[in-house]
Amino acid sequence: MKIALLALVVTGGLGFAAWQPADRSTKKPHTAGASTYRDRFAQTQTNLTATGASSCASSMCHGGATPRPGEVFLGIEYDLWYDRGQGTHFRAYKVLYEDERSDRMAKLLFGPNAVAKDQAACRTCHAFDVEPRRHGRAFDIEDGVSCEACHGRSEKWNGPHQNPRVWRKELTDDQRTEQGFYDTRNLVRRAEQCLACHLGVGDKSFGHRMLAAGHPPLTFELAGDLFNVPKHWRDEQSYISPDEGSWFHVRVWAVGQAVTLREEMRKLASWAASDADVDYAVFECYACHHDLTVPSWRQRREVVGKLGEPVWNAATWAMCGVLLDLLTSEQRDEIRKQVDRIGRSLNIRSADRAAVRSAAESVASLASVLAERASQTRFDRAATFRMIRSLTRDRERIAQLGYRAGVQTFSALYALYRLGIAESGSVPDNHTAILGALGNLRDLLYDAQRNERAGDYDALALAKILAELERLLAGV
Ligand code: HEC
Ligand code: HEC
Ligand code: HEC
Ligand code: HEC
Repeated sequence: MKIALLALVVTGGLGFAAWQPADRSTKKPHTAGASTYRDRFAQTQTNLTATGASSCASSMCHGGATPRPGEVFLGIEYDLWYDRGQGTHFRAYKVLYEDERSDRMAKLLFGPNAVAKDQAACRTCHAFDVEPRRHGRAFDIEDGVSCEACHGRSEKWNGPHQNPRVWRKELTDDQRTEQGFYDTRNLVRRAEQCLACHLGVGDKSFGHRMLAAGHPPLTFELAGDLFNVPKHWRDEQSYISPDEGSWFHVRVWAVGQAVTLREEMRKLASWAASDADVDYAVFECYACHHDLTVPSWRQRREVVGKLGEPVWNAATWAMCGVLLDLLTSEQRDEIRKQVDRIGRSLNIRSADRAAVRSAAESVASLASVLAERASQTRFDRAATFRMIRSLTRDRERIAQLGYRAGVQTFSALYALYRLGIAESGSVPDNHTAILGALGNLRDLLYDAQRNERAGDYDALALAKILAELERLLAGV
């Protein structure tokens, strides 16, 4: 696989500002198949009671009417999450019986009598599906993805966390975790928590069967999506230094991409270790699903993998390409080599499972290192522009990876430009033209109702818009 954008790495690096971890070359990658923070956290949850969202909603705590000035937390978290009954996570369970697609999916997947809201396979992501004997008095499944689905069952930490001195000063992160509290402040762990449901990891399984039944594809980008949780906290609490400002979102984007790659690789490795059939969802969807058009851009591209075979969906990897400078040169060579091995070994008919497994485990370990590095890196304006430019420069390859890579590129540019550069308060003179090009990119990928326009995806059109962006950015 040709990774053109990595050329810049050799020529002096991206020049990330200020802070760089001191132990760059000494830290060993995690051992293959190592468990994550979330795995460790999951063990604390058994035997704990979930208190329920409304128990958090007292006006003294998280159910206040106006944000509290000068506090670590806002005090109005409940209202923001509930959003007058329209909050996306609050509504997640209701989708299972109010949206007609849900029962249709359930019937296709589980038989003619199946009802979506009763299926563990749906509730695992669309609700906080706690075993009934662990329901506290205020627990209600109708609350969907409620506070404790992200923050952990609160039986043990509910008391201590009401005393700021004990909670913030006396208890360590590890002690809070032991009490069943999930550390969402740490960006790597935060990404891990979202991706459990937004990618479908571990017991929250999600694959092509689910898509074939009509489930919308899961697309996730941490920086942009955190705004729509909706955001009920102060980002400053997670800044690397007090003046990090909008570069924080760039860091969040970077961590999100690296953790997504790691989680995709863990899924792939665990498939390769099983004897299950290959899940079509690991391939680029439109390798199989596109219309036969004449002329076709596909006949003008470079061959990736074997001609006429579905190829691995490398969208996340393509985005991580602009971050590889955070690794040592040996780690970079290694991750590229292993990714290449996945591309060659993951074949729809005769995948070399042993090769896929060991390659995916290696990539997962290195992605884990990448995520940690990214989470400790102070990005700045120059580094952000350089990352945007490497995406636009690599346009041919990215566009040819297919529609899903197009979507990831759009959300990357959105996070880097719109949340990073534009929010920094200083925009280039041709800011409006740049936003115009981003708008064209959005319109190529989505219709006016924001539905995906995947069927008529055109790689040449995508590359053309990225070329226009490159031109606009040339002088800034
Ligand atoms: C791995 C976690 C996961 C599983 C399992 C899962 N979903 Fe979802 N579902 C999601 C996420 C995340 C979204 C939001 C997708 C987006 O917009 O990015 C979603 C969206 C939906 C939507 C669209 C909702 C809307 O507002 O447009 C429906 C309907 C739905 N799911 C039904 C189901 C049903 C029925 C099942 C079981 C057969 C199921 N889901 C299983 C995570 C999951
Ligand atoms: C989808 C996951 C999710 C859900 C659901 C959720 N939160 Fe959060 N919450 C987060 C994330 C992510 C943060 C930001 C990281 C942080 O500050 O810990 C956060 C931050 C907070 C904070 C600030 C903590 C601090 O130390 O800065 C409070 C308080 C909070 N949430 C309360 C709630 C309450 C109350 C609910 C339910 C009404 C809730 N959250 C629902 C993910 C979630
Ligand atoms: C327990 C599973 C679960 C967790 C954990 C979770 N989500 Fe969700 N999320 C869902 C489901 C299910 C939906 C779809 C709900 C609907 O359509 O009503 C959803 C919807 C969303 C949406 C709106 C749909 C979209 O993609 O635009 C955003 C944004 C979102 N989640 C962000 C996050 C973020 C950020 C985190 C981590 C801090 C997170 N979620 C953690 C299950 C989860
Ligand atoms: C290896 C080929 C292949 C790949 C790759 C693939 N699919 Fe499919 N898909 C199929 C086949 C075969 C069917 C069943 C066709 C039918 O029911 O007519 C199907 C059915 C579907 C359906 C239901 C039929 C329809 O038209 O609505 C959806 C939706 C779907 N796939 C989505 C996806 C998505 C999203 C991806 C990528 C994440 C994907 N597929 C990747 C081969 C593939």
